[in-house]
This record gives sequence, structure tokens and C-alpha cells, in this order.
Amino acid sequence: MQVSSVTTQMASAKLTARPSAAERPTAAGQNGHEAGVNGAPAGAPTAATTEPEIVDPFCNADNPQIITFQDVTSAAFKIRKGVELTPCVKSHFSDLIDMDIYLKKEFLQFTGSFKERGARYALLMLSDEQKKTGVISASLGNHAQGLSYHGWKLGIPVTVVMPLKASLMKIQKCRNYHANVVVQGADMGEAKRIALKMAHDRGLTYINGYDHPHIMSGQGTIGLEIVEQVSDIDAVVVPVGGGGLIAGVATAIKNLSPNTKIIGVESEKCPSFTRALENKSPVFVANQETLADGLAVPQVGYNAYATTVPLLDKMIVVKEEWIALAILRLVELEKCVVEGAGAAGLAAILAGHLDEFIGKRVVLLICGGNIDTTMFGKCLERGMAAEGRLQRFTVTVSDGPGGVAKLCNLLASLGVSIKDIMHERAFIRDIHHVEVKVICETRDWEHSKEMRRVLQETYSKVHFYDMPMAITE
Ligand SMILES: Cc1ncc(COP(=O)(O)O)c(C=O)c1O
Repeated sequence: MQVSSVTTQMASAKLTARPSAAERPTAAGQNGHEAGVNGAPAGAPTAATTEPEIVDPFCNADNPQIITFQDVTSAAFKIRKGVELTPCVKSHFSDLIDMDIYLKKEFLQFTGSFKERGARYALLMLSDEQKKTGVISASLGNHAQGLSYHGWKLGIPVTVVMPLKASLMKIQKCRNYHANVVVQGADMGEAKRIALKMAHDRGLTYINGYDHPHIMSGQGTIGLEIVEQVSDIDAVVVPVGGGGLIAGVATAIKNLSPNTKIIGVESEKCPSFTRALENKSPVFVANQETLADGLAVPQVGYNAYATTVPLLDKMIVVKEEWIALAILRLVELEKCVVEGAGAAGLAAILAGHLDEFIGKRVVLLICGGNIDTTMFGKCLERGMAAEGRLQRFTVTVSDGPGGVAKLCNLLASLGVSIKDIMHERAFIRDIHHVEVKVICETRDWEHSKEMRRVLQETYSKVHFYDMPMAITE
């Protein structure tokens, strides 16, 4: 893969139109599909692509740009007054897991994620003319919020195209930050095409949320802070979506601490970097719904990939159940409200993917906290189910006085908490009995097993529902 350094490339880049997919001889181009995020590849011939497709000049498959340590340090200098220097503190998990774990709390940035760093740097690096005309991007949430907020603070007009499925909370937040919010496009692929077209037509500067070199450099400033805050780090674990965060952080850390391992983590539902590594180049990977929506980028960036690969020590794909459990654990043990992407590093440790670092010092990037309330509730419940702490069963008890009370008392005596209970008679053959359905909460998997044993000893008809989420046995 041919590469060139950022600084030589930035000044002259302009949005260019190329023939529509229908007009081009091949739709996907040499390096596979180009942009699509959460949807069809950008080149796919849909009704919307009869017009010429606009190409982002900063993300060129044939000329990927690798950022340097100097790019990251100049970003750090420029943004230092506009973003938080977040804490990186020893975690309560350290004693439980026998690993010296530190949490870099990037969810404490004003808009709830690290995305502010890259956004602010990219905005500060615009020419006066570009600042006046404004910028545009497509995003499901965190990048849009970072860009909107810092655009507002710096007096630069920001337009964000958010797909129809973006969360209402995130859309509203961008509006609160005075951005021009366009809610259009079934998915990120479509939103990006719309944003590129608007950029072309209105002379706005398009800022890709993970592959623009200034974005990667800005995210890299986290790495500089980590090395200042924690000494002798054995590994830094970085959640991966489009790859901009890991590209920047790896550039900073490998330069200052070459022996520190850089570990990437993806959700099993969107393993785009893992597939890119197998393919030896970014490739389109259809994403599924994931708890870690911040990581749902179907194709990693060309610049991010080229920058990261030489610095990467390991890439992990983690199951969703572990992400749910990590969200739950971060609330319970650390009092941190974190989104799925932010919990991915801890998920990898809980799942045993980093056992080689037992007894060593590991920094986890807790990179975002923007989880909407409904999703948060679901994650907590899923986490509890995954840990075997939520149980569901049906039991047939006497319909005589005290039959249901006996069951409730038995559960109470075991210290089990009933969350939901209902009983029905109409469909039971035996007129003297009633079927009771219970959802209950236990302390842990051992406690659940004790409850199951006692119920089986007490009642002849008891059925426990399968727990497809359970990961503890
Ligand atoms: C909270 C959070 N973590 C991690 C990532 C991944 O960052 P990148 O796309 O630069 O790999 C994102 C991306 O949006 C995010 O929002």
C-alpha cells in the first residue's frame, strides 16, 4: 500500500465529483466499497446514486495518509484549552481481576465522548475562508455532537447529517449546540452521501469522523495524556469503529513507550478492522445491530488503517453479552455510566481475551458515555441475565389459600427478589393448582443455582427458561 504523510496532502484537497455508480464501469472500485456506514456500500447503484458521486479527498484508497507523532503533538498544543484533560485512575477491578487496571475517563468530556478532541482540532485547522463558510459531516451521534459543540464555541457554522435512525436525544443535543441538523438517510451510508453532496453544492468542508487526518491526530492526544498519567504501562486497550481513535492513540503511545502493547477491541456485530486485517485492506462488512453503536462502522478508514497496522499488537472481537455485562459492572463498581463502545475494553478483559496481562498494568479507554435511557435499561438487564442474576421460571403450586404465598416466602427466605410475578388458572388441567410465572433477581450465578435446586426439591412441576444470554457457565 502506498502512503504519504499528512502535511504534504492537506492544503490542496478539494471535493470532487466522479461518475455515478451506474455510469462507472465497476461499482466498487479496486479496494472494495468505499464509504457506506451501516448500510449499502457507497458505490451501490441505488436510485439515489444516479447523480455523480462526491468523493472525500482526505480518504483516498490509493493514497492513504499516515499521521505522525508531530501531528499529534501539534494537535495537543492547539486543543489544550478547549477540551478536558480527563482523569486516568486506578480501577476497583484491579483487585478483582488481578490486573493493574486504569480507566481513562473520556466520557467526562463535555459532550460525553473523546470525539471532541479531533473535532476541535479539525475545526481549528481550517483556513479563514473555510471557517466562514462552515463544515459538514455525517454521524450517528458522538462525532456530530463534538463537531456541533466546538463549532458553536469557535463561531464556525456546522451542519450535521444524521440518519433517520439516530437517537432523538443525540439529534436534540446537536440542535442545542446550535448546529444545522439534517435528519435524512436510512443509514449512515446514505447520510454520508447526502452530506458529501451538500458539501459539494454549498462549498462546505466535509470532515470525516474517523479518517480525516486532523481527526486522528486530535484523538491521539489521549495517548499523550495517558503516558503522562500512568507509568510503565504494559497495554492500552482501545475500542475500534472506523479506526481513527486507535490510529491516533497508537501513534502517540508507540512513540513515547514503544514496549506498550496496543490492543484494539471490536464488537462481534461489526468486526470491520478484523476483516480488513484478513483482507489486507479496508473492506465493506455489513454490520448488525449492536449495543456498541459507536463502533458500528462497516468499513474502516484508509488512513486509519494505514496508520494503525504497523503499530497494532492485537485485535479482539468481543461478544455482545460481555459488553452488556461490562456496562453493568462499570455502573456497579465504578459508578460510571458508559455506552457500549466505552465498555468494550472491560468486556474484553471479562471475557478472558487479555489473560496474558494478568499481573500487569493495563489502561482501558472508557471513550464514551452517550447511552440513551432505554438502551441503558436494556443493557443493565442483559448484563444481569448474562451473569445469571436474572432468572425466569414457571412453577405449578397449590391453588388453596397460601399456595402462592408459600412460593413467595420460599424465595424471600433464599434472599431472592421477585421482579415480576403472574399466575393463571384457565389453562391448567388440575383445578386445584395454579401456574405461576416468575422473573426474579439473585445475587450471582451460584445463588441462582441454589434457588433452582430448592425449587426443584419443593415442587414437582418447575420449568426454568433457557438463558441464551448467560455467559457464566
Ligand atoms: C464512544 C466511542 N468509542 C469508540 C469509537 C470508535 O472510534 P473510531 O471510529 O475512531 O474507531 C467511537 C466512534 O464513534 C465512539 O463514539
